[in-house]
Amino acid sequence: MDGHAFSGARDGKGEHDDEQAEAQAHGVLRGFKVGRAAFTVTVAPLGTACHLLRKFHQGLALTALIPTMCLPQVALMVRNAMFANSRAVSSNQTGIHEDLEKVVRRHLASVWRAPIADHDHASFEQVVTWRNENGLERPLMVDSGCGTGRSSVLLAQANPEALVIAVDQSANRLERGGRRWLQPPKNLLLVRADCTGLWRLMQQQGWLLDRHQILYPNPWPKSAHLKRRWHGHPVWPTVLALGGELELRSNWPLYLQEVQAALAISGIEAVLSPLTTEAPAATDFEEKYQASGQTVWQLIASLARQ
Ligand SMILES: C[S@@+](CC[C@H](N)C(=O)[O-])C[C@H]1O[C@@H](n2cnc3c(N)ncnc32)[C@H](O)[C@@H]1O
Repeated sequence: MDGHAFSGARDGKGEHDDEQAEAQAHGVLRGFKVGRAAFTVTVAPLGTACHLLRKFHQGLALTALIPTMCLPQVALMVRNAMFANSRAVSSNQTGIHEDLEKVVRRHLASVWRAPIADHDHASFEQVVTWRNENGLERPLMVDSGCGTGRSSVLLAQANPEALVIAVDQSANRLERGGRRWLQPPKNLLLVRADCTGLWRLMQQQGWLLDRHQILYPNPWPKSAHLKRRWHGHPVWPTVLALGGELELRSNWPLYLQEVQAALAISGIEAVLSPLTTEAPAATDFEEKYQASGQTVWQLIASLARQ
């Protein structure tokens, strides 16, 4: 894909998270429901191949043309077992994490000084160059944890006046995105980076976003993993500082309830609701969750004036 930025060898961390789920989501054309069952139809190319059968009898050549595959091949693949099989998130938490407020307040009261990796600096340099070349004055939007970039392409198409930066740490997913979006919008740059590094570099340069979306972040559902969720991570104040319209989506409402509570600690209101749009799924994970009959949730907050 144009604008792909790959910045050298990595440790592979995060590469395999949910790989199987995404692989199953890949290449699906349409998902639909009949009653409680979810199906996906894959329509194969029109086949007009024929079989030529030659049969010899009493010295005469009898040729029969058997059009065995003249009809469009419609392969109905009941993919409940392969695709629409996502189970709801299960957690040992029954409500908002009891340490959430303490953890968020601690992070808000301090500056996270962990070093930023060289490859994230290199990725940021590519972003800076691209932004300089394409118009510093244009609104800036970021799709963090973009996976294969499906939502990033939609975002860029819907906002041709803006520059959209799509970030993921997985080279594998970005490469698959590059194969999938043969002609990505010109206002989209996919970058391989760790968000925790890239976000901080953006903040250090005083960048302000118009829109920031984080769709289906890894839920880290175990109670012990609170600090791996974005709102429990020391990088959280940076997310707030980058500003913009913040949107998160998840199939685990508790994740978003915690985000809502974390925002409330900073005096920011957020609206949490089931995603009701009739629009096609915005991401591979969204498609899979919806095909599995799960409700997906959306949280929207305006950080613009923070
Ligand atoms: C559950 S997937 C969702 C992908 C995509 N948004 C979707 O809905 O199909 C989470 C994504 O976040 C990425 N990710 C997780 N932690 C990250 C980090 N620290 N920096 C960049 N990407 C990260 C993973 O590589 C993965 O692609």
